[in-house]
Amino acid sequence: MLPRKVRILDVGPRDGLQNEAKPLSADIKLELIDRLGAAGLPAIETTAFVSPRWVPQMADHTEVTKRLKHRPGVDYSVLVPNIQGYEAAIAAGAGEVAIFAAATEVFSKRNTNCTIDQSFERFAPIMSAAKAANVRVRGYISVALGCPYAGPVPAQQVASIAARLYAIGCYDVSLGDTIGAGTPAQTRAMFEACVKHVPIDRLAGHFHDTYGQALANIYASLEMGVTNFDTSVAGLGGCPYAKGATGNVATEDVVYMMDGLGIETGIDLGKVAEAGAWISGLLERAPSRAGKALLAKRAAAAEALAA
Ligand code: HMG
Ligand code: MG
Repeated sequence: MLPRKVRILDVGPRDGLQNEAKPLSADIKLELIDRLGAAGLPAIETTAFVSPRWVPQMADHTEVTKRLKHRPGVDYSVLVPNIQGYEAAIAAGAGEVAIFAAATEVFSKRNTNCTIDQSFERFAPIMSAAKAANVRVRGYISVALGCPYAGPVPAQQVASIAARLYAIGCYDVSLGDTIGAGTPAQTRAMFEACVKHVPIDRLAGHFHDTYGQALANIYASLEMGVTNFDTSVAGLGGCPYAKGATGNVATEDVVYMMDGLGIETGIDLGKVAEAGAWISGLLERAPSRAGKALLAKRAAAAEALAA
């Protein structure tokens, strides 16, 4: 039995763009976010309040957050690594934040310059400030299905971090296959271990598509009852601290699969494909597979009509 409905969070404006070398203006980022909202995305991660020295593409986080036009029914969130980022995000008008921990010590050091325990020390003041201000906090775990430095990651290790994030008050714990190396059996083992500590409807799958396994991993997750997935329009992205990792699974490919399975997403595939083609054109990169196929089919139909 597969779920009847899933919630898709588009992380393209943050996870997708953070790795793009070509600087994009805040206007373009805001247009991308608006196009995603117009396409029916129920949740969008818009930017990251991280150090501009570490991730230059996110340096305009304050402008993007201040100028964001909120569409009713869309949850907008931003990534924050520490209380400094949290306070800047809230001052700019952010209403929801996401914190991120790693499943391995080495990735924690490379990504945020601290140990896993130190990252939880940084989360503590964020969690108390967020609780006092009624701000929802989402938690990520990076390198949950493999680490570029430490190799394979035991499911128990991921489950123990998931338990900690849930215990400190994260409303969702998103399990990130940062390097896109996981396969469906590993995905199943990861969720089986995590669900002992976090309810299945509070877990999310965050799959990068480096090895072309993301859709298969999402299907395996659906079979386990997972209903939250992070995707990126046009499959944009990669992680600056995981060389060779490609983008998140494309929103268009996931919506196409969900439509085919009769699983409700509330997302208009045609509109998200148009947004994907637009941003891919600006970045001079290939659009998603489903987006490209759909728009080619539309163009052929329009040509036939005109003939
Ligand atoms: P640090 O150098 O250890 O920080 O960086 P520090 O506390 O020692 O401070 C050093 C300087 O950074 C100071 O400035 C601080 O003010 C400044 P200085 O006095 O030298 O001029 N600083 C900040 N500036 C702006 N915003 C802040 C901030 N905090 C301190 N929030 C830090 C620690 C976490 C800031 C740094 O390591 C960092 O920004 N890392 C970036 C990490 C990142 O963005 N990674 C990519 C996102 S995670 C991801 O993609 C994975 C995910 O998608 C899931 C998956 O796929 O698995 C979520
Ligand atoms: Mg990611």
